[in-house]
Formats: sequence, C-alpha cells, structure tokens
Amino acid sequence: MNADAISRKVLFVDDEPMMLEGIRRQLRGRFAVTTAVGGEAGLAVLREQGPFAVVVSDYRMLGMDGVEFLRHVRELSPEVVRVMLTGQAELDVAVNALHEGCIFRFLSKPCSRETLTAVLDDCLEQHRLAVSEKLLRRELDAANQELRKLNQNLENLVARRTATIENLYLLVSELNGLDSLEEVVHSIVLRTADTLRSRRAALLLPDASGEYLCMRAAVGIDAVIRGQVRMPIGAPLAGRVYQKGECVVVNDAAGLSALAPACEPVELLSAPLALTPLLTPEGPVGVLGVAHPIEAQGYDSESLAALHAVAKAAGIALLNQVRRQERDDARDATILALAKLAEHRDPETGAHLERVQCYCRLLCEALAAEEKYASVVTRGFIENIVRSSPLHDIGKVGIPDYILLKPGKLTDEEFEIMKTHSRIGGDTIRALVEQGRRQSFLDMGMEIAYYHHEKWDGSGYPFGLTGEAIPLPARILALADVYDALTSRRVYKASVPHARAREIIIEGSGTHFDPDVVAAFKRQAGEFERLSMALAEPESGRPAVVRVAG
Ligand code: C2E
Ligand code: SIN
Ligand code: SIN
Ligand code: FE
Ligand code: FE
Repeated sequence: MNADAISRKVLFVDDEPMMLEGIRRQLRGRFAVTTAVGGEAGLAVLREQGPFAVVVSDYRMLGMDGVEFLRHVRELSPEVVRVMLTGQAELDVAVNALHEGCIFRFLSKPCSRETLTAVLDDCLEQHRLAVSEKLLRRELDAANQELRKLNQNLENLVARRTATIENLYLLVSELNGLDSLEEVVHSIVLRTADTLRSRRAALLLPDASGEYLCMRAAVGIDAVIRGQVRMPIGAPLAGRVYQKGECVVVNDAAGLSALAPACEPVELLSAPLALTPLLTPEGPVGVLGVAHPIEAQGYDSESLAALHAVAKAAGIALLNQVRRQERDDARDATILALAKLAEHRDPETGAHLERVQCYCRLLCEALAAEEKYASVVTRGFIENIVRSSPLHDIGKVGIPDYILLKPGKLTDEEFEIMKTHSRIGGDTIRALVEQGRRQSFLDMGMEIAYYHHEKWDGSGYPFGLTGEAIPLPARILALADVYDALTSRRVYKASVPHARAREIIIEGSGTHFDPDVVAAFKRQAGEFERLSMALAEPESGRPAVVRVAG
C-alpha cells in the first residue's frame, strides 16, 4: 500500500464504546477514523486492515493496558505513530513508555477537540516523513546496489575486453609465424576457445566439392565425431551460417529446436551455442563455432563481439594461408616440371628417379630406428627427401649433349664440365627458394642438388665438404644415387649385379659414404635388391655400352 492511501488512517482504541463514538463524531471528515474496543480488538484491526498512520490508545483498559497494546503495535508495524491517552495519575507510566520508545507522545485526558486535531495533524506529518524517509532510504540502497552492480559489470567488461584483445593479439602474432594450414586451423580453435571461455570450439571449412562443411579443427569434440561432420552448405545450422553470412546464437534448448538443425550430429547440438561465418573480402571461407561456455549461462553481445573479432582475424589468416599455399604449390609444380625437363635430356629414365626415391625412403626408415637419428629423420623429413630427391640432377640441363649422352668414358675436361651439374642445380633451386617465404621441400632439394656428389672424406665436388658438414639428406641421396647408377645400365656403362654394388658401397664406407648411412644400407640391402629388380628397366632400352666404371 502506498503512503498516500494510509496517510490519514487513524485507529482509536478504548474499552468504552461511548468514548470512541464521541471521538469518531469529533474527527469525522478530517481523518479516516477506525475504532476498536480493547487491545485485542485493536490488534485484530491492525492485522486485518493495517497499515495505519497513527494509533491512539487509552492507557486504562480492561485486560491489556495501553502500554502493552502499543508495544504489540510497535512489533507489528514499527512506522506507525503511537499515541497514548492518560489521566493525570498515570503520568509516570506515560513518561516511561516515552523513554522506552513504545510511544511517540501522550495526551492527558481530557483533551479538547482542537488539541486532539492539532496532535493528530502533527502525527500524520511525522508519519509521512518517516515513510518517505524509509522510501528514500530504500531507493538510495537500490541505487547504490545498482551502482555497485554496474561497477562490477564494468570491471568484468573491462577484464573480458582486455582478455579478448590479448587473445586476438596472440592469435594474430601466432598466425603470422605459422606455415601450414594444419597449424593455422589448430591455433584458431585454441584461441577461440580461450577467448570465448568455452569448452568447445570448432572450425568448419568447405570440402573439396564445395557442397559440404567439414570440421577441420576442434577442441572439446571427440575426434570420431569430428571426422563424421559433413554439413550441407545452405542447411541449418552451420551450412546456413556459411551461406547467409550471418551468425547464430542459441542460448537455450528451445531456441535450438526452433532452428530445426537437421544436419549437425546430435552430439554437437547443445545450447548455449554460437556460430559465426568467417568472412573475407573474397566471401565466406568457413564457420567458427563455440559451445559450452565455462562460466556464463550463455553468449551475450560482448561474447559475440569477441567471436566476430576472432572470426575476422581467422578468416584473413586462412585466406592468406590458402593463397600462400597456392603460390608455393605453383612454385613447387614449376620446379618439378623443370626436373621433368632435365629428366628428358638425361639418358636416365623416370624409373631411375623413382628408384632413388624408394632407396632414400629405405635408408631413412633404417636411420629413424636409431636413437641418434630418431629426432632428425622424422616423418616430415622422409616426406621431404622423397619429394625432393628427383631434383638432385636437374643441373644436368646445363650440360651439353655431347658430354651427357656420350656413350663412352669422359675425358678429364669433359668430366670437369660434367661436375658443374651439382652447382648449376643448387643455384637454380636456390633462386626459386629465395622467392618463396615458406620453408618447403625445395630447401632440401637445394641441399641435395648442391651436395650429392660430396664425399665423406672430402674428396667430392663441388665444395669438397667433409663428414657431417655435408647435409644429411645429401649423404643419404649420395648412397641411393650410386647404388642405382651401379645397378642400372647407363649410356656409358653396363649394370653390375646387386652383390657387387653392395660390395662397392660397403668399401666406400668412411671414404665416399657416411658410415652410418652405409650401416643403414647393410640392414636394408635385401630390400634394395628386391626393389632394384621390381623397378628394373625394360630390356628394350638403349643399347648398353659394356664398360664398368669405378
Ligand atoms: P650417374 O650415372 O647418375 O652416376 C652417379 C654416381 O654413381 C657417379 O658420380 C659415381 O659416383 C657413381 N657411379 C656411377 N657409375 C659407377 C661405376 O661404374 N663404378 C663406381 N664405382 N661408381 C659409379 P660421378 O662419377 O660424379 O658422375 C656423375 C655423373 O657424371 C654420372 O651420373 C653420369 O651422368 C656422368 N658420368 C660419369 N662418368 C661418365 C662417363 O664415363 N661417361 C658418361 N657419358 N657420363 C659419365
Ligand atoms: C560446436 O559445437 O562448436 C559447433 C557445432 C556446430 O557446428 O553445430
Ligand atoms: C654456393 O656457394 O653456390 C652455395 C654453397 C652453399 O649453399 O653453402
Ligand atoms: Fe649427380
Ligand atoms: Fe643420378
């Protein structure tokens, strides 16, 4: 009930109905007077009709006296202004009640209508003040509380924004240093989960067909489920986010079913969930999603702003990555074409290049099993050497045909010219490597081209490097190349059997070849023989000139 409605309500309590009737008559029109005969009845009225502004009670009543009654009134409603009517004889009682705080004032009987009216006006004013003060205090408290909450929110907001900016900074600087798409997508989902303080984050990219989104990276999502994700582009949820370029936030289960997501695996469909497209100047490149916020009940506008910021950085990074990859792929393709060209001029056939690749892999596998090489000869190292080994002789494009295709033994001068093929090849690849930014298999290709004719004891060419100064890939390729040159027919020589080739290579341990690589060869010798026969040249090749070099 508001202050106005109770502002004139006065309750009179006395045990003489006549007395009450008199007061009622006197005060009619000025106050909203209610009367009750006796304390019990007075309390009942307060309970049923309260609150009142003023309660006036006689002291001398049968049963409960005025002080006792007004004490109860105070307990019931502390704001009510309490007044006691007393005779001269009970003045001390009234004074005690005043001190006790049980009444605000007392009136001596008998009192005139004027006195009563003036006192009641006073009391009403006092009540009005008390009530408005209480309201004011309540408002003040509320305002203070609001302010505290606001401050707290502000602090939270600042903390969240700071964390978001930090994460974005980390993401952007991290992305700049990454070379592979794999690393980029992984970094994106990790930073997204961090920034949005979520247990789950996922990056969806279109597959090769361009019809479906696949989950390229995720945190908090089972790898099996991740692998199963195939969401049609255009269909809810993620496929539509991608197509429409609009984000979706679902904070409760009802909202989720309203969106009728038909295409997501059920394991992924739990609210709260937020999905945003990765938009780039060239259109959407993917969808970034988060779910399972760690602390919050859902994703608010602040989290969405953070998600958009991450998505923007991620989109650009992905686009750059794709462009870089395309550029690098184009460069690698150019060089492979070059290697093919060299192969055309080289009397050695494509099968030679393929066999050398296989021999390199065999040697690598044996080396990787050794503690000394396990951390160097990794899967990546092996892939690299296999891809780059066909480039080892591309420098032969620079060797005149009369030397390259000479069916017999080279003169010393001719051989000097022949030897330049490793420097020509290395220089050619170096020029290409220096244009690219990404470390590629071409770095290894360059090493192999330069150093595949170096020898362990320093007697090789073009630089005369010794031992471990010769890069490991070149030491490996040197053995593979010589084994193949020995066991194949060349324009200038016939082939030797595996057993003889094996002897020659073992003899070369520590002079021509790295002893560790020779040891690896010994362990794989059976495989070498098997492969050399499986990938042998057809007999209808060029006529062999029977001469065994060495
Ligand atoms: P390639 O034919 O691929 O031979 C690669 C390497 O295998 C040779 O490097 C050599 O270390 C080894 N090798 C090849 N044949 C024999 C052999 O009969 N016995 C022994 N012990 N080792 C052998 P090298 O000597 O630096 O030769 C580099 C390239 O020069 C050869 O590549 C080949 O294209 C050319 N070449 C070398 N000698 C002759 C030659 O007498 N006549 C012609 N036409 N070309 C030659
Ligand atoms: C997520 O759980 O982060 C993504 C789920 C979805 O793409 O529907
Ligand atoms: C060169 O001098 O042509 C290249 C040698 C190297 O890469 O160390
Ligand atoms: Fe060579
Ligand atoms: Fe070769």
